[in-house]
Amino acid sequence: MFGVGYVGLTAGICFASQGNHVLCVDIDVDKISLLKKKQCPIYEPGLEELLNTAEVSQNISFTSKLDEALVHGKILFIAVGTPVDASGKSDLSALFEISQFIGKSITETKIIVIKSTVPVGTCQKIRSIIQRELSLRKIDIEFHLVSNPEFLREGCALEDFLNPDRVVVGLEEKNIVPDLRQLYLPFVKNDQKFIVMSTKSSELLKYAANAFLATKISFINEVSRVSESTGADIDSIRQGLMMDPRIGSLFLDAGLGYGGSCLPKDVKVLASMGENLNLNLPLIQNIGLSNQMQKKFFLDKIISKTLKAKIVCVWGLSFKPNTDDIREAPALEIIDHFIHKGVRIQVYDPAASEKTRGYFNLRNSIALNKKIHFASSPEEALIDADALIICTEWGDFKKIDVRNIKNLLNTPLVIDGRNIFCPRAMSDVDIDYYPIGNFRKT
Ligand code: UGA
Repeated sequence: MFGVGYVGLTAGICFASQGNHVLCVDIDVDKISLLKKKQCPIYEPGLEELLNTAEVSQNISFTSKLDEALVHGKILFIAVGTPVDASGKSDLSALFEISQFIGKSITETKIIVIKSTVPVGTCQKIRSIIQRELSLRKIDIEFHLVSNPEFLREGCALEDFLNPDRVVVGLEEKNIVPDLRQLYLPFVKNDQKFIVMSTKSSELLKYAANAFLATKISFINEVSRVSESTGADIDSIRQGLMMDPRIGSLFLDAGLGYGGSCLPKDVKVLASMGENLNLNLPLIQNIGLSNQMQKKFFLDKIISKTLKAKIVCVWGLSFKPNTDDIREAPALEIIDHFIHKGVRIQVYDPAASEKTRGYFNLRNSIALNKKIHFASSPEEALIDADALIICTEWGDFKKIDVRNIKNLLNTPLVIDGRNIFCPRAMSDVDIDYYPIGNFRKT
């Protein structure tokens, strides 16, 4: 397994849990040395525990030496990052370097499986890279290329990998299907969840899935803005929508805008693929814009309600609960706004404080960072603040007694980007509560 990010590490550990001998390789020596000590370099519930079970421990090993990986096993998974620039162009250099290395070094037949999210046509390019290297070596070694996108979510990666909705393999040579089916059988349990298609379809499907999810969220977010302006209640609307099986119940929670490393990135790449093909795709090309507008709408609401605030409290820094990932997390822009206004910020997050501290330091903002107080509990972050702003729906926040919130705040004002509290409970203790979409759940 090349790459020990969320996808590579989760997949490696889960494959090992089913008795496969897995070698994980990554050029990041710090990550590898942590993993050798059986410590997870990422925050993902249950992953470190699974890594430390006897079954996994005896089947998995870690190295930073690429050549060791090449002689290990029949299937080579590549799960390295494919970051995207502002224009939506994916940086495939890490992927291509590994492909070149494979072409230069393999000595026997291999199945090469691309798990990284890649634009349509990338597998074809990888095939050419490997073939070119083999031609330069003047040898003919059979190799097979498979696209195998991953659909796991951060925060519940194990659950998603162990019980996937579907496993997709994209390939042109059907004779290797049994090898992949056998590998995934313990997870899919039946054949209906194992789907075989062409490499290009499989590559595009990954973007289509994430773009569809982003559209669903953006749709309900736009409806929530109408709801807020008209006095309708977004929760009743969500309930009415989800009872239609054609719409479904998931990904209909209106909020302050989606974040993370995947949805924003994949929406951008899909739109840019369309542009490169000279296609007019107005829906896809505007998903990102809709999300930015939701983030702005929420920030404008905060600005209008906190004009006189001297201290504000922010609950939740990660882009969603059960992760310490702050990539594209909406909380960061909100904190930035207050830093530039000279307002003191008291934040609390159960997992993402360290990364947030690093983020503001990295931007060479040590002085700015001092304006942020990282509290050790949600209650401590509330003390004397003139407003509470909720950015992530961590389970711990939902359990807090609203009377405590009222007592600890200097001004009883709560602006909730995740609709975690009951509006009636808030008004009962005289808190000015501003949820998303005029949410009225009782
Ligand atoms: C997403 C996809 O859900 C996974 O299927 C995919 O494998 C992954 O990207 C990837 O490409 O690697 P993830 O980024 O972990 O997973 O997070 P999601 O659970 O999709 O949430 C994304 C954002 O949408 C979060 O900010 C979340 O708070 C927001 N969201 C989600 C809403 O605002 N409302 C909802 O109803 C659901």
